[in-house]
Amino acid sequence: MATDAPRTHAGRVALVTGGGRGIGAAVAAELATRGARVAVLDTDAGLAAEAARACGGHAERCDVADRAAVDRACAAVEAALGPVDILVNNAGISPKRDGKPVPIWEMDGAEWDAVVAVNLTGCFNMARRLTPGMVARKRGWIVNMASVSGRVWTPLVSGHYTATKTALVGLTRHWAGELGPHGVRVNAVAPGRILTPLAKLTAPETNQAIVAATPLGRAGEPEEVARAVCFLSGPDAEFVTGAILDVSGGWMMS
Ligand SMILES: NC(=O)c1ccc[n+]([C@@H]2O[C@H](COP(=O)([O-])OP(=O)(O)OC[C@H]3O[C@@H](n4cnc5c(N)ncnc54)[C@H](O)[C@@H]3O)[C@@H](O)[C@H]2O)c1
Repeated sequence: MATDAPRTHAGRVALVTGGGRGIGAAVAAELATRGARVAVLDTDAGLAAEAARACGGHAERCDVADRAAVDRACAAVEAALGPVDILVNNAGISPKRDGKPVPIWEMDGAEWDAVVAVNLTGCFNMARRLTPGMVARKRGWIVNMASVSGRVWTPLVSGHYTATKTALVGLTRHWAGELGPHGVRVNAVAPGRILTPLAKLTAPETNQAIVAATPLGRAGEPEEVARAVCFLSGPDAEFVTGAILDVSGGWMMS
């Protein structure tokens, strides 16, 4: 862990869902580097423990789609670290079939329900549990992990993913409006193609086509998304709420 990073997040407790690997693990590490005390939640207990160990944080196994499990995990985090100041709603899934999106006429109802439960209702479950404390303390930062697919159509994902990420963009604005008067800032990051295990579910030729359509000519690294999350949850963004920050190398414009 770098030790010369500015301690912008000292005194803040952060909780990262889906923090066991990929973007979430990078966010947890970057927040810890900047002085936050970090909790990692993940359905995979081993990944959560490993990511938490790497950043000196606290791990909880938790499926964000399971409301009772969310309540239990948040209580455990509060007992271990204190009240949560920063919620990073990062957990998300994007099922593919042979590396390709599934069209509506072949979509399985159970798969639709699962994606909505994790990507959208999971964010609600977390925010519903943690915002009462934030409002009472008049202090909080929420960062939702949206996607370029929540802003424009992309051939990369299925309709369930597009629907949930688009909803998250709307929900970010809604919560920003509701929570702003109570001292809680709510923003979203919209990543483009980022090199994580999730991205590897997509066919290589599709990933190559995305890079070709990306003005900066490459895919992004999880750490580049993590730095955007730190900006939005740190002291340099005190007057920022309801923003959707693209971290896509310009792919968003294509
Ligand atoms: N990688 C990209 O190109 C990309 C682009 C845009 C948006 N995103 C978004 O970024 C977020 C992270 O993506 P990633 O690429 O790091 O994915 P990833 O699959 O590499 O990691 C996701 C982590 O979330 C965990 N997880 C999955 N379902 C969960 C649940 N129900 N409860 C708790 N944890 C759960 C997984 O175990 C895993 O550790 C997602 O919301 C994704 O939609 C990713």
